Amino acid sequence: MQQLEGLREKWLAAIGSADRAEALESIRVEALGKKGEITALLSSLGTLAPEERREAGRGLNALKDAVSEAIKARKQKLDEMHLGQRLQSEFVDLTLPARPEASGRLHPISQTIEEIIAIFGEMGLSVAEGPDIEDDFNNFTALNIPEDHPARQMQDTFYLPKAEGAASPMVLRTHTSPVQIRTMRSKQPPIRVICPGRTYRSDSDMTHTPMFHQVEGLVIDESTHMGHLKGCLIDFVRTFFDIEDLKVRFRPSFFPFTEPSAEVDIGCDRSHGALKLGQGNDWLEILGCGMVHPKVLENCGIDSKRYQGFAFGMGIERIAMLKYGIPDLRTFFEADVRWLNHYGFQAMDVPSMVEGLSR
Ligand code: DAH
Repeated sequence: MQQLEGLREKWLAAIGSADRAEALESIRVEALGKKGEITALLSSLGTLAPEERREAGRGLNALKDAVSEAIKARKQKLDEMHLGQRLQSEFVDLTLPARPEASGRLHPISQTIEEIIAIFGEMGLSVAEGPDIEDDFNNFTALNIPEDHPARQMQDTFYLPKAEGAASPMVLRTHTSPVQIRTMRSKQPPIRVICPGRTYRSDSDMTHTPMFHQVEGLVIDESTHMGHLKGCLIDFVRTFFDIEDLKVRFRPSFFPFTEPSAEVDIGCDRSHGALKLGQGNDWLEILGCGMVHPKVLENCGIDSKRYQGFAFGMGIERIAMLKYGIPDLRTFFEADVRWLNHYGFQAMDVPSMVEGLSR
Protein backbone atom coordinates (compact mmCIF):
# COMPACT_ATOMS: atom_id res chain seq x y z
CA MET A 1 0.00 0.00 0.00
CA GLN A 2 2.74 2.38 0.99
CA GLN A 3 4.63 1.51 -2.10
CA LEU A 4 1.55 2.46 -4.21
CA GLU A 5 1.25 5.78 -2.38
CA GLY A 6 4.90 6.52 -3.16
CA LEU A 7 4.43 5.62 -6.81
CA ARG A 8 1.39 7.82 -7.06
CA GLU A 9 3.20 10.81 -5.63
CA LYS A 10 6.18 10.24 -7.87
CA TRP A 11 4.17 10.05 -11.11
CA LEU A 12 1.77 12.88 -10.28
CA ALA A 13 4.72 15.13 -9.49
CA ALA A 14 6.41 14.20 -12.77
CA ILE A 15 3.21 14.88 -14.69
CA GLY A 16 2.70 18.20 -12.94
CA SER A 17 6.14 19.41 -13.91
CA ALA A 18 6.00 18.30 -17.57
CA ASP A 19 6.05 21.56 -19.51
CA ARG A 20 5.78 20.26 -23.06
CA ALA A 21 3.60 17.73 -24.86
CA GLU A 22 6.65 15.61 -25.76
CA ALA A 23 7.81 15.40 -22.11
CA LEU A 24 4.31 14.40 -21.05
CA GLU A 25 4.20 11.68 -23.68
CA SER A 26 7.47 10.11 -22.49
CA ILE A 27 6.15 10.10 -18.92
CA ARG A 28 3.06 8.28 -20.16
CA VAL A 29 5.23 5.70 -21.91
CA GLU A 30 7.44 5.21 -18.82
CA ALA A 31 4.42 4.71 -16.55
CA LEU A 32 1.68 3.15 -18.65
CA GLY A 33 3.35 2.08 -21.90
CA LYS A 34 3.89 -1.58 -22.79
CA LYS A 35 7.08 -1.66 -20.74
CA GLY A 36 5.97 1.00 -18.29
CA GLU A 37 6.44 0.70 -14.54
CA ILE A 38 2.74 0.48 -13.67
CA THR A 39 2.06 -1.92 -16.55
CA ALA A 40 4.84 -4.19 -15.29
CA LEU A 41 3.38 -4.19 -11.77
CA LEU A 42 -0.05 -5.04 -13.16
CA SER A 43 1.30 -8.00 -15.09
CA SER A 44 3.15 -9.26 -12.06
CA LEU A 45 -0.18 -9.63 -10.18
CA GLY A 46 -0.45 -13.21 -11.44
CA THR A 47 2.40 -14.26 -9.17
CA LEU A 48 0.50 -13.28 -6.02
CA ALA A 49 -1.75 -15.42 -3.88
CA PRO A 50 -5.49 -14.94 -4.72
CA GLU A 51 -6.41 -12.80 -1.63
CA GLU A 52 -3.41 -10.59 -2.00
CA ARG A 53 -4.00 -10.35 -5.70
CA ARG A 54 -7.46 -8.88 -5.29
CA GLU A 55 -6.36 -6.12 -2.98
CA ALA A 56 -3.19 -5.29 -4.86
CA GLY A 57 -5.12 -5.34 -8.14
CA ARG A 58 -7.63 -2.83 -6.84
CA GLY A 59 -4.87 -0.54 -5.63
CA LEU A 60 -2.87 -0.80 -8.84
CA ASN A 61 -5.88 -0.17 -11.07
CA ALA A 62 -6.78 2.91 -9.03
CA LEU A 63 -3.18 4.10 -9.46
CA LYS A 64 -3.33 3.51 -13.19
CA ASP A 65 -6.62 5.45 -13.47
CA ALA A 66 -5.29 8.32 -11.40
CA VAL A 67 -2.14 8.57 -13.51
CA SER A 68 -4.00 8.50 -16.84
CA GLU A 69 -6.50 11.06 -15.57
CA ALA A 70 -3.66 13.33 -14.49
CA ILE A 71 -1.97 12.95 -17.90
CA LYS A 72 -5.20 13.85 -19.66
CA ALA A 73 -5.76 16.93 -17.52
CA ARG A 74 -2.17 18.06 -17.94
CA LYS A 75 -2.37 17.56 -21.69
CA GLN A 76 -5.40 19.80 -21.89
CA LYS A 77 -3.68 22.43 -19.77
CA LEU A 78 -0.56 22.35 -21.97
CA ASP A 79 -2.68 22.66 -25.14
CA GLU A 80 -4.41 25.71 -23.73
CA MET A 81 -1.10 27.27 -22.72
CA HIS A 82 0.34 26.57 -26.13
CA LEU A 83 -2.63 28.18 -27.88
CA GLY A 84 -2.43 31.20 -25.60
CA GLN A 85 1.26 31.63 -26.41
CA ARG A 86 0.61 31.36 -30.15
CA LEU A 87 -2.21 33.88 -29.99
CA GLN A 88 0.12 36.27 -28.25
CA SER A 89 3.15 35.77 -30.43
CA GLU A 90 1.20 35.81 -33.72
CA PHE A 91 -0.89 38.84 -32.84
CA VAL A 92 -1.43 41.25 -35.73
CA ASP A 93 -2.73 44.73 -35.04
CA LEU A 94 -5.18 45.31 -37.86
CA THR A 95 -5.80 48.87 -36.75
CA LEU A 96 -2.26 49.98 -37.62
CA PRO A 97 -2.07 52.16 -40.74
CA ALA A 98 -0.57 50.67 -43.91
CA ARG A 99 3.15 51.29 -44.21
CA PRO A 100 3.80 54.47 -46.12
CA GLU A 101 6.45 52.78 -48.24
CA ALA A 102 3.84 50.51 -49.85
CA SER A 103 3.89 51.77 -53.43
CA GLY A 104 1.48 49.52 -55.37
CA ARG A 105 -1.11 51.22 -57.54
CA LEU A 106 -4.60 50.22 -58.53
CA HIS A 107 -5.06 49.83 -62.28
CA PRO A 108 -7.44 52.44 -63.76
CA ILE A 109 -9.72 49.61 -64.90
CA SER A 110 -10.10 48.33 -61.32
CA GLN A 111 -10.68 51.87 -60.12
CA THR A 112 -13.28 52.58 -62.81
CA ILE A 113 -15.13 49.34 -62.01
CA GLU A 114 -15.21 50.36 -58.33
CA GLU A 115 -16.64 53.74 -59.29
CA ILE A 116 -19.31 52.17 -61.51
CA ILE A 117 -20.28 49.78 -58.70
CA ALA A 118 -20.49 52.69 -56.24
CA ILE A 119 -22.78 54.74 -58.48
CA PHE A 120 -25.16 51.95 -59.47
CA GLY A 121 -24.98 50.50 -55.96
CA GLU A 122 -26.44 53.75 -54.68
CA MET A 123 -29.34 53.26 -57.13
CA GLY A 124 -29.97 49.77 -55.72
CA LEU A 125 -28.24 47.60 -58.32
CA SER A 126 -26.00 44.79 -57.11
CA VAL A 127 -23.15 43.00 -58.87
CA ALA A 128 -23.68 39.75 -60.78
CA GLU A 129 -20.94 37.71 -62.41
CA GLY A 130 -20.58 35.02 -65.03
CA PRO A 131 -17.77 32.97 -66.60
CA ASP A 132 -15.45 34.23 -69.36
CA ILE A 133 -15.93 30.98 -71.27
CA GLU A 134 -19.55 30.83 -72.38
CA ASP A 135 -21.74 28.54 -74.39
CA ASP A 136 -23.40 29.52 -77.63
CA PHE A 137 -26.83 29.74 -76.02
CA ASN A 138 -25.95 32.33 -73.38
CA ASN A 139 -23.65 34.40 -75.58
CA PHE A 140 -25.85 34.42 -78.69
CA THR A 141 -29.04 32.37 -79.04
CA ALA A 142 -30.83 33.44 -75.87
CA LEU A 143 -29.98 37.06 -76.70
CA ASN A 144 -31.93 36.76 -79.92
CA ILE A 145 -28.79 36.78 -82.05
CA PRO A 146 -29.70 34.50 -84.93
CA GLU A 147 -27.46 31.86 -86.47
CA ASP A 148 -26.44 34.08 -89.41
CA HIS A 149 -25.81 37.27 -87.45
CA PRO A 150 -22.46 38.87 -88.34
CA ALA A 151 -21.38 38.97 -84.69
CA ARG A 152 -21.16 35.19 -84.78
CA GLN A 153 -18.66 35.04 -87.57
CA MET A 154 -15.13 33.88 -87.02
CA GLN A 155 -13.50 37.29 -87.35
CA ASP A 156 -15.11 38.54 -84.15
CA THR A 157 -15.53 35.58 -81.87
CA PHE A 158 -12.85 33.44 -80.27
CA TYR A 159 -14.08 29.86 -80.49
CA LEU A 160 -12.73 27.06 -78.36
CA PRO A 161 -12.13 23.64 -79.94
CA LYS A 162 -15.49 21.90 -80.16
CA ALA A 163 -15.90 19.23 -77.52
CA GLU A 164 -16.85 15.77 -78.71
CA GLY A 165 -20.63 15.36 -78.84
CA ALA A 166 -21.29 19.10 -78.25
CA ALA A 167 -23.71 20.85 -80.59
CA SER A 168 -21.57 23.97 -80.83
CA PRO A 169 -18.17 25.09 -79.56
CA MET A 170 -17.76 27.19 -76.43
CA VAL A 171 -16.69 30.79 -76.95
CA LEU A 172 -14.80 33.47 -75.06
CA ARG A 173 -17.73 35.74 -74.28
CA THR A 174 -17.89 38.60 -76.76
CA HIS A 175 -19.85 40.83 -74.37
CA THR A 176 -21.16 40.82 -70.80
CA SER A 177 -24.74 40.35 -72.02
CA PRO A 178 -24.71 36.57 -71.31
CA VAL A 179 -24.68 37.47 -67.61
CA GLN A 180 -28.15 39.02 -68.21
CA ILE A 181 -29.30 35.62 -69.41
CA ARG A 182 -27.72 33.75 -66.50
CA THR A 183 -29.28 36.18 -64.02
CA MET A 184 -32.77 35.98 -65.51
CA ARG A 185 -32.61 32.20 -65.73
CA SER A 186 -31.64 31.84 -62.08
CA LYS A 187 -33.71 34.61 -60.43
CA GLN A 188 -37.26 35.81 -60.51
CA PRO A 189 -37.95 39.54 -61.04
CA PRO A 190 -37.58 42.13 -59.67
CA ILE A 191 -33.99 42.07 -60.95
CA ARG A 192 -31.53 44.95 -60.58
CA VAL A 193 -27.94 44.09 -61.44
CA ILE A 194 -24.79 45.29 -63.10
CA CYS A 195 -22.29 42.81 -64.49
CA PRO A 196 -18.74 44.10 -64.93
CA GLY A 197 -16.16 41.78 -66.46
CA ARG A 198 -13.75 40.78 -69.18
CA THR A 199 -14.84 40.32 -72.76
CA TYR A 200 -12.99 39.08 -75.84
CA ARG A 201 -13.04 39.78 -79.54
CA SER A 202 -10.59 38.82 -82.22
CA ASP A 203 -9.68 42.37 -83.05
CA SER A 204 -6.51 44.40 -82.47
CA ASP A 205 -5.60 47.94 -83.52
CA MET A 206 -5.33 51.47 -82.07
CA THR A 207 -8.80 51.31 -80.58
CA HIS A 208 -9.34 47.56 -80.08
CA THR A 209 -7.64 45.00 -77.88
CA PRO A 210 -8.51 41.28 -78.00
CA MET A 211 -9.46 41.43 -74.31
CA PHE A 212 -11.33 44.40 -72.91
CA HIS A 213 -13.92 45.11 -70.23
CA GLN A 214 -17.61 45.86 -70.29
CA VAL A 215 -20.29 46.50 -67.76
CA GLU A 216 -23.81 45.32 -68.38
CA GLY A 217 -26.88 46.61 -66.58
CA LEU A 218 -30.24 44.89 -66.23
CA VAL A 219 -33.41 46.04 -64.49
CA ILE A 220 -36.59 43.96 -64.76
CA ASP A 221 -39.84 44.65 -62.94
CA GLU A 222 -43.55 44.93 -63.67
CA SER A 223 -43.66 48.58 -64.65
CA THR A 224 -40.08 49.51 -65.55
CA HIS A 225 -40.12 51.73 -68.63
CA MET A 226 -37.94 53.77 -70.97
CA GLY A 227 -38.18 56.78 -68.63
CA HIS A 228 -36.44 54.77 -65.91
CA LEU A 229 -33.75 53.76 -68.38
CA LYS A 230 -33.12 57.37 -69.32
CA GLY A 231 -33.11 58.65 -65.75
CA CYS A 232 -30.76 55.91 -64.61
CA LEU A 233 -28.22 56.46 -67.40
CA ILE A 234 -28.33 60.27 -67.37
CA ASP A 235 -27.68 60.16 -63.63
CA PHE A 236 -24.88 57.70 -64.14
CA VAL A 237 -22.92 59.64 -66.77
CA ARG A 238 -23.27 62.95 -64.95
CA THR A 239 -22.05 61.41 -61.70
CA PHE A 240 -19.28 59.40 -63.30
CA PHE A 241 -17.82 62.31 -65.27
CA ASP A 242 -18.65 64.72 -62.45
CA ILE A 243 -20.28 67.22 -64.80
CA GLU A 244 -23.65 68.27 -63.41
CA ASP A 245 -25.09 69.65 -66.65
CA LEU A 246 -23.49 67.19 -69.05
CA LYS A 247 -25.64 66.99 -72.17
CA VAL A 248 -26.94 63.47 -72.87
CA ARG A 249 -28.67 62.29 -76.04
CA PHE A 250 -30.53 59.03 -76.74
CA ARG A 251 -30.23 58.13 -80.41
CA PRO A 252 -32.33 55.30 -81.96
CA SER A 253 -30.23 52.25 -82.74
CA PHE A 254 -30.47 48.50 -83.11
CA PHE A 255 -29.50 45.55 -80.96
CA PRO A 256 -31.07 42.11 -81.41
CA PHE A 257 -31.72 41.82 -77.64
CA THR A 258 -33.52 45.14 -77.08
CA GLU A 259 -36.59 46.79 -78.60
CA PRO A 260 -36.56 49.74 -78.84
CA SER A 261 -32.79 50.21 -78.75
CA ALA A 262 -30.74 53.37 -78.36
CA GLU A 263 -27.20 54.58 -78.23
CA VAL A 264 -26.24 57.23 -75.73
CA ASP A 265 -24.08 60.20 -76.68
CA ILE A 266 -22.63 62.82 -74.37
CA GLY A 267 -21.97 66.44 -75.28
CA CYS A 268 -18.38 67.44 -76.05
CA ASP A 269 -16.21 69.87 -77.89
CA ARG A 270 -13.71 68.72 -80.52
CA SER A 271 -12.44 72.05 -81.79
CA HIS A 272 -8.70 72.88 -81.69
CA GLY A 273 -7.73 69.21 -81.77
CA ALA A 274 -8.67 68.57 -78.15
CA LEU A 275 -11.63 66.71 -76.72
CA LYS A 276 -13.49 68.44 -73.90
CA LEU A 277 -16.50 66.80 -72.27
CA GLY A 278 -19.47 68.89 -71.24
CA GLN A 279 -18.74 71.77 -73.62
CA GLY A 280 -19.35 72.63 -77.27
CA ASN A 281 -21.77 71.20 -79.79
CA ASP A 282 -20.30 67.81 -80.71
CA TRP A 283 -21.45 64.39 -79.57
CA LEU A 284 -19.54 61.32 -78.42
CA GLU A 285 -21.11 57.86 -78.29
CA ILE A 286 -20.51 56.01 -75.04
CA LEU A 287 -22.96 53.17 -74.59
CA GLY A 288 -25.78 51.00 -75.94
CA CYS A 289 -29.10 50.33 -74.27
CA GLY A 290 -32.76 49.50 -74.72
CA MET A 291 -35.86 47.78 -73.41
CA VAL A 292 -35.19 44.04 -73.09
CA HIS A 293 -36.74 42.24 -76.08
CA PRO A 294 -39.78 40.12 -75.10
CA LYS A 295 -38.17 37.14 -76.87
CA VAL A 296 -35.14 37.42 -74.58
CA LEU A 297 -37.39 37.45 -71.51
CA GLU A 298 -39.25 34.38 -72.80
CA ASN A 299 -35.92 32.62 -73.57
CA CYS A 300 -35.19 32.99 -69.86
CA GLY A 301 -38.57 31.76 -68.67
CA ILE A 302 -39.84 35.22 -67.68
CA ASP A 303 -43.42 36.10 -68.55
CA SER A 304 -43.08 39.02 -70.99
CA LYS A 305 -46.76 39.95 -70.54
CA ARG A 306 -46.16 40.62 -66.89
CA TYR A 307 -42.54 41.81 -66.77
CA GLN A 308 -40.46 44.26 -68.74
CA GLY A 309 -37.29 46.21 -68.19
CA PHE A 310 -34.17 47.74 -69.59
CA ALA A 311 -30.58 46.78 -70.25
CA PHE A 312 -27.42 48.62 -71.17
CA GLY A 313 -23.84 47.82 -71.95
CA MET A 314 -20.71 49.94 -72.10
CA GLY A 315 -16.99 49.61 -72.57
CA ILE A 316 -15.04 50.28 -69.41
CA GLU A 317 -11.74 51.22 -71.08
CA ARG A 318 -13.55 53.77 -73.18
CA ILE A 319 -15.13 55.67 -70.30
CA ALA A 320 -11.93 55.37 -68.24
CA MET A 321 -9.91 56.89 -71.11
CA LEU A 322 -12.38 59.75 -71.39
CA LYS A 323 -12.46 60.46 -67.68
CA TYR A 324 -8.75 60.16 -66.97
CA GLY A 325 -7.39 61.47 -70.25
CA ILE A 326 -5.63 58.25 -71.23
CA PRO A 327 -4.91 58.58 -74.95
CA ASP A 328 -4.01 55.04 -76.05
CA LEU A 329 -6.10 51.94 -75.35
CA ARG A 330 -3.25 49.49 -75.80
CA THR A 331 -1.25 50.97 -72.91
CA PHE A 332 -3.85 49.56 -70.49
CA PHE A 333 -2.46 46.08 -71.00
CA GLU A 334 1.26 46.70 -71.45
CA ALA A 335 1.93 46.30 -67.72
CA ASP A 336 4.37 49.21 -67.76
CA VAL A 337 5.08 50.26 -64.17
CA ARG A 338 5.79 53.85 -65.22
CA TRP A 339 2.36 54.05 -66.87
CA LEU A 340 0.75 52.53 -63.79
CA ASN A 341 2.53 54.97 -61.48
CA HIS A 342 1.19 57.80 -63.60
CA TYR A 343 -2.39 56.67 -64.20
CA GLY A 344 -2.87 54.28 -61.28
CA PHE A 345 -4.72 54.97 -58.04
CA GLN A 346 -3.81 54.77 -54.41
CA ALA A 347 -4.92 51.41 -53.01
CA MET A 348 -6.65 52.96 -50.01
CA ASP A 349 -8.64 55.40 -52.14
CA VAL A 350 -11.81 53.33 -52.41
CA PRO A 351 -14.42 55.28 -54.35
CA SER A 352 -17.83 55.66 -52.75
CA MET A 353 -20.78 57.97 -53.07
CA VAL A 354 -20.18 59.21 -49.53
CA GLU A 355 -16.41 59.75 -49.64
CA GLY A 356 -16.48 60.75 -53.28
CA LEU A 357 -15.31 59.22 -56.56
CA SER A 358 -11.86 59.93 -57.91
CA ARG A 359 -11.54 62.98 -60.11
N1 DAH B 1 -23.75 43.76 -75.85
C1 DAH B 1 -23.55 44.99 -76.57
C2 DAH B 1 -22.15 45.02 -77.17
O1 DAH B 1 -21.32 44.27 -76.78
C3 DAH B 1 -23.72 46.17 -75.66
C4 DAH B 1 -25.12 46.34 -75.23
C5 DAH B 1 -25.98 47.13 -75.97
C6 DAH B 1 -25.60 45.68 -74.11
C7 DAH B 1 -27.28 47.29 -75.61
C8 DAH B 1 -26.94 45.87 -73.73
C9 DAH B 1 -27.77 46.66 -74.49
O2 DAH B 1 -27.44 45.27 -72.65
O3 DAH B 1 -29.07 46.84 -74.12
O4 DAH B 1 -21.91 45.80 -78.04
